[in-house]
Amino acid sequence: MTFDIDFGTPAPHAAWLPDEAFAAVGTRRLALDAAAPTATDLDRAVLASLVTELDRATGTHGGAVVGAADSPDLVLRLEPGSATSPPDGFTVARTDGRPTVTARTPTGLLHGWFHVVRRGEAAFTGPEGTEQHAPAAALRMLDHWDNVDVHPVMGQVERGYSGGSIFYDAGVVRADLTRVTAYARLLAAVGIDRACINNVNVHAREARLLTDDLPEVARIAAALRPYGVRTHLAVSFAAPMTLGGLPTSDPLDDAVRAWWRDAADRVWAQVPDFGGFVVKADSEGQPGPFAYGRDHADGANLLAEAVAPHDGLVHWRAFVYNHTQDWRDRSTDRARAAFDHFAPLDGRFADNVVVQVKHGPLDFQTREAVSPVLAAMPRTRLALELQVTQEYTGQQRHACYLGPWWSELLRFAPWGADDGTTGGGTRVADVVTGHGPDAAPGVAAAGGGGIAAVSNVGDDRFWTGHPFAQANLYAFGRLTWDPTLDATDLLDEWITLTFPDTSADLRAALHAILDDSWRTYEAYTAPLGVGFMVRPGHHYGPDVDGYEYTPWGTYHFADRDGIGVDRTRATGTGYTGQYPAPWRDVYESLETCPDDLLLFFHHVPYTHVLHSGVTVIQHVYDTHFAGVEQVEAMVARWEEVAAEVPDDVARRVRERLAEQLRSAVEWRDQVNTYFLRKSGIPDARGRTIY
Ligand code: GCU
Repeated sequence: MTFDIDFGTPAPHAAWLPDEAFAAVGTRRLALDAAAPTATDLDRAVLASLVTELDRATGTHGGAVVGAADSPDLVLRLEPGSATSPPDGFTVARTDGRPTVTARTPTGLLHGWFHVVRRGEAAFTGPEGTEQHAPAAALRMLDHWDNVDVHPVMGQVERGYSGGSIFYDAGVVRADLTRVTAYARLLAAVGIDRACINNVNVHAREARLLTDDLPEVARIAAALRPYGVRTHLAVSFAAPMTLGGLPTSDPLDDAVRAWWRDAADRVWAQVPDFGGFVVKADSEGQPGPFAYGRDHADGANLLAEAVAPHDGLVHWRAFVYNHTQDWRDRSTDRARAAFDHFAPLDGRFADNVVVQVKHGPLDFQTREAVSPVLAAMPRTRLALELQVTQEYTGQQRHACYLGPWWSELLRFAPWGADDGTTGGGTRVADVVTGHGPDAAPGVAAAGGGGIAAVSNVGDDRFWTGHPFAQANLYAFGRLTWDPTLDATDLLDEWITLTFPDTSADLRAALHAILDDSWRTYEAYTAPLGVGFMVRPGHHYGPDVDGYEYTPWGTYHFADRDGIGVDRTRATGTGYTGQYPAPWRDVYESLETCPDDLLLFFHHVPYTHVLHSGVTVIQHVYDTHFAGVEQVEAMVARWEEVAAEVPDDVARRVRERLAEQLRSAVEWRDQVNTYFLRKSGIPDARGRTIY
């Protein structure tokens, strides 16, 4: 399949920051009241960007940058000593019709600036009063799975669907990093403050970012810094051997500890505001502490000790499982692995370690139960890991707005609600911001481990391949700042900023296409939470048995009578026992298990009747036919409004929707045919199945 992709275009799409988005601020008199000297390189760089922002907005729209005494319409005030907001936060006070944004740091002020931009005219006309704004998550991070070299299988960006890397090109850091600064600007406008700039699978070339290439890392950090985004590196646990020539990487070996301390000292000498290290260890072939009979607390604490003198962080991933499983072995359940490895280590991780947990126990599937690890480690700083890149949700060829899904995950209440319903109580968002039940004082004081996600950005002219995938990056950032925001409202914000002068019809069409697109994607792919069924390797398109007889631990167990994975305590793998009440019982019982996760937790006959009233097999047929009809409606709706957006956007979206429809038909026909042949049960409505 071919796409009209214009990678490497020098002038990338403005995404949610087109000049028009600055009309309300840019036509006014703006004052930057920041006489106070600022402390760090980061502060100075961000302050310089604020000056540029004001000049650019007023220069484009005819406003003026004036002094604080010249009755400005908007004042941005830096008050380093002020106790009114946390470092990244800001206060907006509106008196006499004039908003004043106050912050303790330039980064806080920058967030305040973008807040006013986002509000547009409403920032100047709304009710008087004072609002405090602060990010819910102290750490708001994007992980780039970018390789410096083009990897023979994974390419320049592992699971990247937006062209090449914005950081690297064929073996070197790009000479021109202006696009990296433009990216940091987009991130700052949605509240992201950290980026890990290389793949968690650290290959030989990329390992050297930590040593020989530090000056190049420093250049990338300098390109991200003006918008308050701090740089992190993914490192290999075997680095003391592969880079340092030591005979071991044993975390308890003194020479190994010294090597990591020196490595950290060298990094911070080059990049004083460096954020820290990200580690994938003992996972899918990456080296780790198991080789020395040590556990993951030993491994993480080794690096934590090395970065601690610099206030650095270690993001240690909990994605640890056996990827060489024998498919014949029904007693091993990959879903159990992260909990089994990590929950017993609660309380042993150093204060500057963040254990980064994928939202589900398997691997970013379109529908999975929420990881029970998130409810099991109150004495550990836990981060939630999401995937903005659409590895398993259509690879940015399919329109699939993920905001509603992330919102659902962040609102999930791992302990249920006090009144026994599932609508309240402590939520995942509370756990990862340090407010979980029994959170240790250190965890609460640090604000937990925050939220991280794999980025979907590349050097594609639209940044994200599918222009609509920009909305996912936008919504992710906004949700890290405030997990209670409504996903439909966030989409609306993105539409307003991205498509200036949006007509009511275009707005309605974008909502019609995107609001439920995640559920539409779910409808035509793997049913009822069973997951996978994708083509092995690249993970695009249907292959129902593609992973069934592989070592990866991702099986659906369909036979002629039924389908699903028995993860109950009573008769299955016991995975349900990893949840606290009420979920351990809700999921255990067929009576109470939610339909959309039924096959994740239970193996049932095709004739099992869902809470919705239809049988499993009829549900498979109905959702797959309906999913394709919904995509047909998306295609038709786009044609009604495409003329309202620039030609290049219209064309790219049209081409992607055509591919989405082709792919959805393929999914429908393969899945329906597979289950008709397995079960022998015809569609009650007699539709065409092959
Ligand atoms: C998935 C993905 C890999 C990635 C891994 C990870 O398995 O397919 O490309 O390396 O997740 O999160 O580490």
